[in-house]
Amino acid sequence: MAGFSLSDNELACDGVPLSAIAESAGTPTYVYSAATLRARYRAIDDAFAGYPHRLHYALKANSAFALVRLLGKAGSAVDANSIWEIELARRAGFDPADIVFTGVGKSDEELECAVPLGLRAINVESAGELARVEAIATRRGVAARVAIRINPDIDARSHPHISTGLRINKFGVPVDAAREMAVSIANRPSLRLVAIHVHVGSQITTLEPLRRAAAFLAGTARELAGSGIQLEYLDAGGGLGVAYDDAPTVAPEEYVRALVSEIRPTGLPIVVEPGRSIVGPAAVLLARVVDLKPRDAGSTFAVLDAGMTELLRPALYNAFHRIEPVKPRAAANHLYELVGPVCESSDVVGRDRSLPALEQGDLVAIRDAGAYGSAMASNYNRRPLPAEVLVDEGGWRVIRRRQTVDDMLALESD
Ligand SMILES: Cc1ncc(COP(=O)(O)O)c(C=O)c1O
Repeated sequence: MAGFSLSDNELACDGVPLSAIAESAGTPTYVYSAATLRARYRAIDDAFAGYPHRLHYALKANSAFALVRLLGKAGSAVDANSIWEIELARRAGFDPADIVFTGVGKSDEELECAVPLGLRAINVESAGELARVEAIATRRGVAARVAIRINPDIDARSHPHISTGLRINKFGVPVDAAREMAVSIANRPSLRLVAIHVHVGSQITTLEPLRRAAAFLAGTARELAGSGIQLEYLDAGGGLGVAYDDAPTVAPEEYVRALVSEIRPTGLPIVVEPGRSIVGPAAVLLARVVDLKPRDAGSTFAVLDAGMTELLRPALYNAFHRIEPVKPRAAANHLYELVGPVCESSDVVGRDRSLPALEQGDLVAIRDAGAYGSAMASNYNRRPLPAEVLVDEGGWRVIRRRQTVDDMLALESD
């Protein structure tokens, strides 16, 4: 069975018991379901139903090499947020024409490498960045393909730390300046304007901001066409949310239907850059209970061997992840504060969770941990980066071994 579900009263990934993986690979370990990853990619891709489009998976959500290769084989292109993500994508087999280069702080060194590659587009974020791209392209005698990331001043109604489409956010070019920029590019031979781009935020769980962003793109493309500026495609960014807590979110079909209905009148192909919605639900972070101790009259601390070093989201955004025992006991539920081992009070993975009784040594699965989980892991407290496992077609393999102290010290000298 695809995904994470109970089988013989034990949580399994694509039918493989998580306890067997923990036994062999240890904990904490990220466990990915290849079937879920492919299904979630296909759900968005198929929803376009023949309308011209391309999915550029957002590598920032999770750029584990094996997962990037898997998505490439499924047909995905990529969105890279640094020259190092571009390098990773190229090593994973992506052509420059399959890569869009996004990001608010592209350095001169990154642009120097990126401009001659002939990427599908460099999504520029400011007039200054555009001028730097132009200078490099002129010096190298090439025409750089650029898209303008416009800040449409749309409220994504997501967490303030992951809303990006408001004027007060650091991202993109304000609307009026973007129009002027588009007109100016027409007279700059080292630049070729191929698209306009918006990305209004992440973990968006209502359709309206996504629809408004698409309508904004379509309206702006029509205005530009009126000024004689023809684009190749429209880039609607990422942002589709995940049902972390089983609350309703936007289904891929509903999302794509809205994009297509807004953009179809322009006749332009659509690019989307989904990250979280593809990889988020495709993984659990497998952890072990290392200690239990009383908290207050009604609850107990369960100290896990995974915390903010492996999964920063709860500490960073107060993000919610479901947490489940891998082998739930047939015992009454009890209230737990599930915390990590790191020396910070904010290192709480799950607050006030009612779970079947836990014992020291038990395994728990932190659900929907595939996006912005492993990608944000750190060595704080000198904790090694966790192992990562991919379950595929009944078997499983380690796709990243657990880091060692030698690995860490290999970069250092006294
Ligand atoms: C420009 C851009 N595109 C795509 C994404 C991916 O967003 P999500 O993971 O919410 O789909 C992000 C993430 O913040 C982004 O900044």
